[in-house]
Amino acid sequence: MLPITDILNKSYLTKQDIITLLQVEGEDKTLLFKKSREITDQHIGNKVYLRGLIEYSNVCIKDCFYCGIRKSNRKQDRYTIADDQVLQAAKYAFENKYGSIVIQAGERTDQVFISKITHLIKEIKKLSDGKLGITLSLGEQTLETYKEWFNAGAHRYLLRIETSNKELYQKIHPNDDLHNFENRITSLLNIRKAGFQLGTGVMIGLPMQTIENLADDLLFLREIKIDMVGMGPFIEHKDTPLFEMNHLLNTRQERLGLTFKMISILRIMMKDINIAATTALQAIDTMGREKAIKYGANILMPNVTPGLYRNSYKLYEDKPCTDENPVDCNTCIDVRMGMIGSTVGYNEWGDSKYFLKNTSKILN
Ligand code: 5AD
Ligand code: FES
Repeated sequence: MLPITDILNKSYLTKQDIITLLQVEGEDKTLLFKKSREITDQHIGNKVYLRGLIEYSNVCIKDCFYCGIRKSNRKQDRYTIADDQVLQAAKYAFENKYGSIVIQAGERTDQVFISKITHLIKEIKKLSDGKLGITLSLGEQTLETYKEWFNAGAHRYLLRIETSNKELYQKIHPNDDLHNFENRITSLLNIRKAGFQLGTGVMIGLPMQTIENLADDLLFLREIKIDMVGMGPFIEHKDTPLFEMNHLLNTRQERLGLTFKMISILRIMMKDINIAATTALQAIDTMGREKAIKYGANILMPNVTPGLYRNSYKLYEDKPCTDENPVDCNTCIDVRMGMIGSTVGYNEWGDSKYFLKNTSKILN
């Protein structure tokens, strides 16, 4: 096995290199994090970009075994935010110089939903004079729908592959047409075809997931030339079927530690993509997102969902900031980023440099 310093200086990491790095501890781990920080400073700088997160609706037609808002969770009240409140949240993000928003919701593919989203995108563009960047995170849709939303003015789309391992994917989803691994890959390619900057990601520390699976996940992200990534620790939810597998889980701290390593290694592999410091990190460690930024992430997604609804968008337990106002979040962003020596890119879209550079993307 190569010494860690040799691996860290390679221009192209192999699967074995990644497996080694995912298992480093102590001084070697410090070297890993130092390397990813250096690369971030070189290729991205210390600027963090904001995406105001609007959790538009927790209505979902799918039944993922891990997710608290899955269709079969009858204990969950359902909501969809009224148009004027969505626009108000977007306006709040715009006036507070966030630069961009993300509209996220459970999955729906009916025409009413599709048209509603198109309408909201257009209205948000209008209220911000075209200035507010819009990312969508609305699941698997047809190419036609992706195109409609792109043409309406959204320009980035997130769809996590969740795990790049087909067998594991099948174990954490029902086995039917709605939860089909190949369809998910096709959706990713269609998102890119429609013109979006493409984001995906995985959950880390799932029951039955191996270190080798995680190495394959990172290779998958490099292979499909992803522009942006959101990866977070898996967090169990007691009202989901996967909760039965709890005995197979690593501790939350271990899942958190693995997530930091995944972010750090990915930054070394893909130097100028956008990497989000996801909310699930903060559910385990109050400084989880800040640490992720130190190790290579450069995107923060402060929640701007009206307070009333926040408690109902519980994909997992212990979700942070569920009882806060956006105003509270706002005051803490600068302070928190200042603590780790980062600055905030106010009023900027902060698009993936990797995307902007790669005009000759493979489109199929
Ligand atoms: N733990 C962590 N992340 C989860 N997600 C859904 N359920 C959980 C959970 N229990 C993530 C999925 C999904 C994203 C919106 O939230 O990766 O794509
Ligand atoms: Fe809603 Fe998975 S449960 S998309």
